[in-house]
Amino acid sequence: MAESARLVCKSSDLESGGMGYRFSVKAKNNEDLPAFVIRFEEVVHGYINRCAHLPVQLDWREGAFFTYDKDLLICSTHGAIYEPDTGLCVGGPCKGASLQKLQISEREGAVYLSCD
Ligand code: FES
Repeated sequence: MAESARLVCKSSDLESGGMGYRFSVKAKNNEDLPAFVIRFEEVVHGYINRCAHLPVQLDWREGAFFTYDKDLLICSTHGAIYEPDTGLCVGGPCKGASLQKLQISEREGAVYLSCD
């Protein structure tokens, strides 16, 4: 394991299209930013939990990021929808903008954030 990786959660905490896992990351200015990881089509992806429309968190209840069909992420405030694997907004008030993607890896039953 690279020294710059931080453990986020266990692999078993994330089901494809299921609840996300919330955590926080330190910004360069030392601010704590809310973040989350989700699993989509078996791959784990992570983002800063901040809508591209307004600086609010996406989940409509803690950890609930997916639409009913489990094929997109949705912002609970005004319904922007995002591709789970890229973070690109494909519908709603910020269409064409993107969530801020985090460098996430998964190995040996655990999910890690790259901290570079
Ligand atoms: S704040 Fe997310 S869609 Fe408006």
